[in-house]
Amino acid sequence: PYVVTEECIRCKYAECVAVCPVDCFREGANMLVIDQTQCIDCGSCEPACPNEAIIPGIDDDGGRWAAFNQTYAAVWPLIKISHQRCAPADADDWKAVPDKLAKHFD
Ligand code: SF4
Ligand code: F3S
Repeated sequence: PYVVTEECIRCKYAECVAVCPVDCFREGANMLVIDQTQCIDCGSCEPACPNEAIIPGIDDDGGRWAAFNQTYAAVWPLIKISHQRCAPADADDWKAVPDKLAKHFD
């Protein structure tokens, strides 16, 4: 499966949601994750993200992000709607901020 990484935090553009054929995305307060049990590895979401937040599981060093995605996918709700609703107004300001998981994840 593909995984959402730290770059998504406080950006949450949700372009990924629109291209996923099987509704894998789950929505938290300031980022999305991919349900690891539903992703069919189609790869459509990776190039769709404006902040390169999505990577294939094969590039997920030690499976850290896969574990993170599945932990939250189990408790966050499904998101199916258009990206225009959920990107925060200051999303672009957060694109290049480092250490978002440690400092800015809710
Ligand atoms: Fe959805 Fe395909 Fe991305 Fe998996 S790789 S989350 S199936 S768009
Ligand atoms: Fe996040 Fe990129 Fe999707 S910023 S919400 S993974 S389009």
